[in-house]
Amino acid sequence: MRPFLKWAGGKARIVERIKVVLPAGARLVEPFVGSGALFLNVEFPRYLLADANRDLIHCYQQLQREGMAFVERCAAYFAPANNQPDAYYALRERFNATTDQTEKAALFVYLNRHGYNGLCRYNGSGGFNVPFGRYARPYFPREEMRSFWQKAARCEFVVADFRSTLRDAVAGDVVYCDPPYVPLSATASFTTYSADGFNLERQRQLALEVETLARRGIPVVISNHNLPFTREIYAAADEFVFFDVQRHISCDGARRTAAAELLAVFSARQPAAG
Ligand SMILES: C[S@@+](CC[C@H](N)C(=O)[O-])C[C@H]1O[C@@H](n2cnc3c(N)ncnc32)[C@H](O)[C@@H]1O
Repeated sequence: MRPFLKWAGGKARIVERIKVVLPAGARLVEPFVGSGALFLNVEFPRYLLADANRDLIHCYQQLQREGMAFVERCAAYFAPANNQPDAYYALRERFNATTDQTEKAALFVYLNRHGYNGLCRYNGSGGFNVPFGRYARPYFPREEMRSFWQKAARCEFVVADFRSTLRDAVAGDVVYCDPPYVPLSATASFTTYSADGFNLERQRQLALEVETLARRGIPVVISNHNLPFTREIYAAADEFVFFDVQRHISCDGARRTAAAELLAVFSARQPAAG
Protein backbone atom coordinates (compact mmCIF):
# COMPACT_ATOMS: atom_id res chain seq x y z
CA MET A 1 0.00 0.00 0.00
CA ARG A 2 1.41 3.36 -1.04
CA PRO A 3 1.00 6.51 1.13
CA PHE A 4 -1.30 9.13 -0.41
CA LEU A 5 1.01 12.02 0.52
CA LYS A 6 4.51 12.72 -0.76
CA TRP A 7 6.72 13.10 2.29
CA ALA A 8 10.42 13.83 2.85
CA GLY A 9 12.03 10.76 4.36
CA GLY A 10 9.17 8.46 3.32
CA LYS A 11 9.99 4.86 4.16
CA ALA A 12 8.29 3.07 1.23
CA ARG A 13 11.64 1.78 -0.08
CA ILE A 14 12.76 0.17 3.18
CA VAL A 15 9.51 -1.22 4.57
CA GLU A 16 10.61 -4.78 3.81
CA ARG A 17 13.83 -4.32 5.79
CA ILE A 18 11.96 -2.88 8.78
CA LYS A 19 9.46 -5.76 8.73
CA VAL A 20 12.28 -8.28 9.22
CA VAL A 21 13.25 -6.80 12.61
CA LEU A 22 9.85 -5.50 13.83
CA PRO A 23 8.37 -7.78 16.50
CA ALA A 24 4.65 -8.56 16.68
CA GLY A 25 2.49 -6.82 19.31
CA ALA A 26 -0.97 -5.62 20.24
CA ARG A 27 -0.39 -2.07 18.92
CA LEU A 28 2.13 -0.33 16.67
CA VAL A 29 3.19 3.10 17.96
CA GLU A 30 4.77 5.57 15.51
CA PRO A 31 5.82 8.91 17.11
CA PHE A 32 7.01 10.29 13.70
CA VAL A 33 4.39 8.86 11.35
CA GLY A 34 4.91 11.21 8.35
CA SER A 35 3.21 9.68 5.30
CA GLY A 36 2.71 6.40 7.15
CA ALA A 37 4.58 4.08 4.77
CA LEU A 38 5.30 1.57 7.53
CA PHE A 39 1.93 1.25 9.30
CA LEU A 40 0.17 0.89 5.93
CA ASN A 41 2.25 -2.19 5.16
CA VAL A 42 2.33 -4.09 8.46
CA GLU A 43 -0.44 -5.88 10.30
CA PHE A 44 -1.19 -4.99 13.96
CA PRO A 45 -4.54 -5.09 15.77
CA ARG A 46 -4.28 -1.34 16.52
CA TYR A 47 -2.09 1.69 15.75
CA LEU A 48 -1.15 4.89 17.62
CA LEU A 49 0.13 7.30 14.96
CA ALA A 50 1.56 10.66 15.97
CA ASP A 51 3.47 13.54 14.43
CA ALA A 52 4.31 17.10 15.45
CA ASN A 53 2.90 18.42 12.14
CA ARG A 54 -0.67 19.41 12.94
CA ASP A 55 -1.76 19.95 9.32
CA LEU A 56 -0.70 16.37 8.53
CA ILE A 57 -2.54 14.82 11.47
CA HIS A 58 -5.66 16.95 10.96
CA CYS A 59 -5.76 15.74 7.35
CA TYR A 60 -5.64 12.09 8.54
CA GLN A 61 -8.33 12.75 11.14
CA GLN A 62 -10.57 14.35 8.52
CA LEU A 63 -10.17 11.37 6.19
CA GLN A 64 -10.85 9.01 9.09
CA ARG A 65 -14.10 10.88 9.99
CA GLU A 66 -15.46 11.61 6.54
CA GLY A 67 -14.09 8.81 4.35
CA MET A 68 -14.87 8.97 0.64
CA ALA A 69 -16.81 12.23 0.98
CA PHE A 70 -13.53 13.85 2.04
CA VAL A 71 -11.69 12.12 -0.82
CA GLU A 72 -14.12 13.62 -3.34
CA ARG A 73 -13.77 17.05 -1.70
CA CYS A 74 -10.00 16.77 -2.26
CA ALA A 75 -10.47 15.54 -5.84
CA ALA A 76 -12.39 18.71 -6.73
CA TYR A 77 -9.21 20.77 -6.29
CA PHE A 78 -7.33 18.61 -8.84
CA ALA A 79 -8.86 20.44 -11.82
CA PRO A 80 -6.57 21.61 -14.68
CA ALA A 81 -7.57 25.23 -13.89
CA ASN A 82 -5.92 24.83 -10.45
CA ASN A 83 -2.66 23.61 -11.97
CA GLN A 84 -1.25 27.02 -12.81
CA PRO A 85 0.73 29.47 -10.66
CA ASP A 86 -1.98 32.10 -9.98
CA ALA A 87 -4.52 29.50 -8.87
CA TYR A 88 -1.90 27.70 -6.76
CA TYR A 89 -0.86 30.87 -4.92
CA ALA A 90 -4.51 31.85 -4.33
CA LEU A 91 -5.27 28.40 -2.88
CA ARG A 92 -2.10 28.48 -0.79
CA GLU A 93 -3.23 31.82 0.64
CA ARG A 94 -6.66 30.33 1.31
CA PHE A 95 -5.02 27.39 3.12
CA ASN A 96 -3.09 29.80 5.36
CA ALA A 97 -6.13 31.98 6.08
CA THR A 98 -9.02 29.55 6.53
CA THR A 99 -10.29 28.47 9.92
CA ASP A 100 -12.48 25.76 8.36
CA GLN A 101 -10.63 22.54 9.25
CA THR A 102 -12.31 20.48 6.51
CA GLU A 103 -11.32 22.95 3.80
CA LYS A 104 -7.79 23.21 5.23
CA ALA A 105 -7.36 19.42 5.26
CA ALA A 106 -8.50 19.11 1.62
CA LEU A 107 -6.21 21.95 0.56
CA PHE A 108 -3.31 20.19 2.30
CA VAL A 109 -3.69 17.27 -0.14
CA TYR A 110 -3.88 19.73 -3.08
CA LEU A 111 -0.73 21.60 -1.95
CA ASN A 112 1.14 18.33 -1.40
CA ARG A 113 0.65 17.30 -5.05
CA HIS A 114 0.90 20.74 -6.71
CA GLY A 115 3.73 22.31 -4.66
CA TYR A 116 7.43 22.09 -5.45
CA ASN A 117 8.81 18.60 -4.90
CA GLY A 118 6.01 17.63 -2.50
CA LEU A 119 7.71 19.69 0.20
CA CYS A 120 5.98 20.73 3.41
CA ARG A 121 7.63 23.91 4.68
CA TYR A 122 6.46 26.89 6.72
CA ASN A 123 7.70 30.46 7.23
CA GLY A 124 8.50 32.01 10.62
CA SER A 125 4.86 32.87 11.26
CA GLY A 126 3.67 29.35 10.45
CA GLY A 127 2.41 30.04 6.90
CA PHE A 128 2.84 27.24 4.33
CA ASN A 129 5.33 28.73 1.84
CA VAL A 130 6.26 26.07 -0.74
CA PRO A 131 6.35 27.47 -4.32
CA PHE A 132 4.33 26.12 -7.25
CA GLY A 133 5.60 22.73 -8.48
CA ARG A 134 4.98 22.90 -12.24
CA TYR A 135 3.85 19.29 -12.70
CA ALA A 136 2.29 18.45 -16.06
CA ARG A 137 -0.60 16.46 -14.57
CA PRO A 138 -0.60 16.08 -10.77
CA TYR A 139 -1.75 12.62 -9.74
CA PHE A 140 -4.83 12.36 -7.55
CA PRO A 141 -4.26 9.48 -5.09
CA ARG A 142 -7.91 8.30 -4.85
CA GLU A 143 -7.15 4.60 -4.32
CA GLU A 144 -4.33 5.34 -1.88
CA MET A 145 -6.72 7.53 0.16
CA ARG A 146 -9.38 4.81 0.10
CA SER A 147 -6.92 2.19 1.41
CA PHE A 148 -5.67 4.59 4.07
CA TRP A 149 -9.25 5.32 5.18
CA GLN A 150 -10.07 1.61 5.43
CA LYS A 151 -7.07 1.03 7.66
CA ALA A 152 -7.77 4.19 9.70
CA ALA A 153 -10.64 2.42 11.48
CA ARG A 154 -8.00 0.75 13.70
CA CYS A 155 -5.89 3.91 14.16
CA GLU A 156 -5.65 6.75 16.63
CA PHE A 157 -4.05 9.87 15.11
CA VAL A 158 -2.57 12.48 17.45
CA VAL A 159 -0.69 15.75 17.11
CA ALA A 160 2.15 15.30 19.59
CA ASP A 161 5.80 15.77 20.27
CA PHE A 162 7.60 12.41 20.33
CA ARG A 163 8.26 12.66 24.09
CA SER A 164 4.56 12.64 24.85
CA THR A 165 3.89 9.72 22.45
CA LEU A 166 6.67 7.64 24.00
CA ARG A 167 5.24 8.32 27.47
CA ASP A 168 1.91 6.88 26.24
CA ALA A 169 3.44 3.54 25.20
CA VAL A 170 2.23 0.59 27.29
CA ALA A 171 2.94 -3.12 27.67
CA GLY A 172 2.15 -4.98 24.45
CA ASP A 173 3.14 -2.02 22.22
CA VAL A 174 5.85 -2.12 19.58
CA VAL A 175 7.42 1.26 18.72
CA TYR A 176 8.92 2.35 15.39
CA CYS A 177 10.77 5.71 15.46
CA ASP A 178 11.63 7.54 12.24
CA PRO A 179 12.90 10.95 13.39
CA PRO A 180 14.21 13.66 11.03
CA TYR A 181 17.59 12.18 10.10
CA VAL A 182 20.90 13.37 11.54
CA PRO A 183 22.59 15.22 8.64
CA LEU A 184 25.38 13.30 6.90
CA SER A 185 27.82 16.07 7.86
CA ALA A 186 27.13 15.78 11.59
CA THR A 187 29.80 14.81 14.08
CA ALA A 188 29.39 14.17 17.79
CA SER A 189 31.02 17.50 18.64
CA PHE A 190 28.80 19.52 16.27
CA THR A 191 25.67 19.85 18.34
CA THR A 192 23.91 22.91 16.99
CA TYR A 193 22.42 21.55 13.75
CA SER A 194 18.68 21.73 13.67
CA ALA A 195 16.21 20.71 10.97
CA ASP A 196 12.70 21.62 12.13
CA GLY A 197 14.11 22.18 15.61
CA PHE A 198 15.34 18.59 15.75
CA ASN A 199 18.95 19.16 16.79
CA LEU A 200 21.51 16.62 17.95
CA GLU A 201 20.52 17.10 21.58
CA ARG A 202 17.00 15.97 20.62
CA GLN A 203 18.51 12.95 18.88
CA ARG A 204 20.38 12.02 22.08
CA GLN A 205 17.27 12.54 24.15
CA LEU A 206 15.24 10.30 21.83
CA ALA A 207 17.92 7.59 22.07
CA LEU A 208 17.82 7.73 25.89
CA GLU A 209 14.04 7.54 25.98
CA VAL A 210 14.09 4.56 23.63
CA GLU A 211 16.52 2.77 25.98
CA THR A 212 14.18 3.49 28.90
CA LEU A 213 11.22 2.05 26.98
CA ALA A 214 13.14 -1.15 26.20
CA ARG A 215 13.98 -1.49 29.91
CA ARG A 216 10.24 -1.17 30.61
CA GLY A 217 9.70 -4.18 28.31
CA ILE A 218 8.57 -2.30 25.19
CA PRO A 219 10.61 -3.10 22.03
CA VAL A 220 11.69 -0.23 19.73
CA VAL A 221 13.12 -0.06 16.21
CA ILE A 222 14.65 3.25 15.11
CA SER A 223 15.86 4.47 11.68
CA ASN A 224 18.59 6.98 10.94
CA HIS A 225 21.65 7.67 8.82
CA ASN A 226 24.55 5.34 9.52
CA LEU A 227 27.10 7.69 11.13
CA PRO A 228 29.61 7.52 14.01
CA PHE A 229 27.23 9.85 15.91
CA THR A 230 24.16 7.63 15.48
CA ARG A 231 26.10 4.43 16.27
CA GLU A 232 27.29 6.16 19.46
CA ILE A 233 23.87 7.34 20.66
CA TYR A 234 22.27 3.94 19.88
CA ALA A 235 25.18 1.97 21.42
CA ALA A 236 22.76 0.18 23.79
CA ALA A 237 20.85 -1.38 20.85
CA ASP A 238 20.73 -5.20 20.70
CA GLU A 239 21.14 -5.31 16.95
CA PHE A 240 22.06 -3.03 14.05
CA VAL A 241 21.07 -3.50 10.42
CA PHE A 242 23.11 -1.48 7.89
CA PHE A 243 22.16 -0.86 4.26
CA ASP A 244 22.26 1.69 1.40
CA VAL A 245 19.16 3.46 0.11
CA GLN A 246 18.85 5.14 -3.28
CA ARG A 247 17.60 8.68 -2.71
CA HIS A 248 16.51 11.37 -5.15
CA ILE A 249 18.69 14.40 -4.61
CA SER A 250 17.40 16.75 -7.27
CA CYS A 251 13.92 17.85 -8.16
CA ASP A 252 13.81 16.00 -11.49
CA GLY A 253 15.00 12.78 -9.90
CA ALA A 254 17.74 12.48 -12.52
CA ARG A 255 20.53 12.44 -9.96
CA ARG A 256 20.44 9.85 -7.24
CA THR A 257 22.80 8.97 -4.49
CA ALA A 258 23.15 6.01 -2.15
CA ALA A 259 22.90 7.07 1.48
CA ALA A 260 24.03 4.72 4.21
CA GLU A 261 21.27 4.06 6.71
CA LEU A 262 20.81 1.98 9.81
CA LEU A 263 18.09 0.34 11.84
CA ALA A 264 18.81 0.06 15.56
CA VAL A 265 16.80 -2.63 17.32
CA PHE A 266 16.15 -2.31 21.07
CA SER A 267 14.57 -5.54 22.28
CA ALA A 268 12.40 -5.70 25.39
CA ARG A 269 14.76 -6.18 28.36
CA GLN A 270 12.23 -7.94 30.58
CA PRO A 271 8.63 -9.10 30.36
CA ALA A 272 6.50 -5.94 30.25
CA ALA A 273 4.37 -5.37 33.33
CA GLY A 274 1.45 -2.93 33.27
C1 LIG B 1 11.64 11.21 8.51
S1 LIG B 1 10.04 11.91 8.69
C2 LIG B 1 9.07 10.46 8.92
C3 LIG B 1 8.80 9.79 7.62
C4 LIG B 1 7.77 8.66 7.71
N1 LIG B 1 8.29 7.48 8.33
C5 LIG B 1 7.26 8.29 6.32
O1 LIG B 1 7.32 7.14 5.90
O2 LIG B 1 6.79 9.22 5.63
C6 LIG B 1 10.08 12.67 10.24
C7 LIG B 1 8.76 13.17 10.79
O3 LIG B 1 8.98 13.67 12.12
C8 LIG B 1 8.09 14.75 12.35
N2 LIG B 1 8.65 15.49 13.51
C9 LIG B 1 9.63 16.42 13.53
N3 LIG B 1 9.91 16.79 14.81
C10 LIG B 1 9.07 16.07 15.61
C11 LIG B 1 8.87 15.99 17.02
N4 LIG B 1 9.59 16.74 17.88
N5 LIG B 1 7.93 15.13 17.51
C12 LIG B 1 7.18 14.38 16.65
N6 LIG B 1 7.32 14.41 15.29
C13 LIG B 1 8.25 15.25 14.79
C14 LIG B 1 8.03 15.49 11.04
O4 LIG B 1 6.82 16.23 10.93
C15 LIG B 1 8.10 14.32 10.02
O5 LIG B 1 6.81 13.92 9.63
